Amino acid sequence: MKAAVLTGINTLGIDHLPTPVAAPGEVLVRIRAAALNHRDVWIKTGQYAGLKFPIVPGSDGAGEVCDTGPGVDRDWIGREVIINPGLDWGHQEKAQELRFSILGLPKDGTLAEYVHVPVSQIALKPGHLSWEEAAALPLAGLTAYRALFSRARLEAHEKILITGIGAGTALFALQFALAVGAIPFVTSSSPEKLARARQMGARHGVLYTSGNWAKDFGDHYGPFDVVIDSAGGPGFAELVDLCAPGGRLVFFGATRGNSGDMPLRKIFWRQISLLGSTMGSPSDFDAMVKLVSTKGIHPTISQVFPLEKVADAFELLEEGRQFGKVVVSV
Ligand SMILES: NC(=O)c1ccc[n+]([C@@H]2O[C@H](COP(=O)([O-])OP(=O)(O)OC[C@H]3O[C@@H](n4cnc5c(N)ncnc54)[C@H](OP(=O)(O)O)[C@@H]3O)[C@@H](O)[C@H]2O)c1
Repeated sequence: MKAAVLTGINTLGIDHLPTPVAAPGEVLVRIRAAALNHRDVWIKTGQYAGLKFPIVPGSDGAGEVCDTGPGVDRDWIGREVIINPGLDWGHQEKAQELRFSILGLPKDGTLAEYVHVPVSQIALKPGHLSWEEAAALPLAGLTAYRALFSRARLEAHEKILITGIGAGTALFALQFALAVGAIPFVTSSSPEKLARARQMGARHGVLYTSGNWAKDFGDHYGPFDVVIDSAGGPGFAELVDLCAPGGRLVFFGATRGNSGDMPLRKIFWRQISLLGSTMGSPSDFDAMVKLVSTKGIHPTISQVFPLEKVADAFELLEEGRQFGKVVVSV
């Protein structure tokens, strides 16, 4: 089969590999479209724990089941599915178990013509989604869903601030917040991205690149019941100031690294909850797919590349030029 293969840090090419087979309890999926996440960039650039080469990257994929391993109902064959990339979450809702891993490292991922996964990792593709939209959904949709609902317990009419709206995860957070009647506000480095977010329903937006943005924005539009962040870095502490008393600040990424000093007195005096979050449980995944189906949500796709141009797809994400998901059609 044809696949994108990383043979070392920043060494990405297209190669021919043996087509995998479905092991007991698994299905073999013929991938129609895959999507990138920032995780794939961290892996490509050597900034992710547990690197191993060669590896087929890619956590997100949608396609047709073309074979089943022993013990799996052969009725699955021919079904159109999406893949939950969170493997071995375990049995507790509160957190994943130690053996949890993510498709695309250490196990070969979706940027290939075929991938094999346990049958428990697949769900029927929502009927209203194209292959590209379906591929865009799993990892970022799951992460946004858990952050908003399982962790922050976002409710209708609450004000939510979503930082870095160009991110795949952030756009799902925006769409999900709107779907439940919350009132979203956004930040970005780009006026164009802010304008697009406003068109999608964000109430207001601000450039996080402009000095003192947090104070001015907070004075006008804050405070926020929920803040969702994946950038971290020195600006993270400012997000505390934007939280309402009793507010929830959820974070699942550190694109800009660790935060600086945290204003501990403000956090405890104002009863603010700092909530770490990572991907989501199988029931988060099911609930996310149900929300997307019942509300008819279409993932925001920045651009679609053919597999042969996968390096260009990575470049778009590495340069932060995307608005939404970067998809690779296989
Ligand atoms: N723990 C988990 O389970 C989990 C799951 C998914 C993602 N993540 C992490 O979350 C982060 C986002 O992932 P992704 O795949 O959605 O990324 P992505 O699509 O590559 O988007 C990255 C975005 O980060 C934003 N950004 C950069 N600097 C920022 C800053 N100072 N303040 C606010 N936003 C900033 C930019 O938004 P603008 O373009 O609007 O400026 C950029 O587009 C990554 O660090 C990723 O590793 C973690």
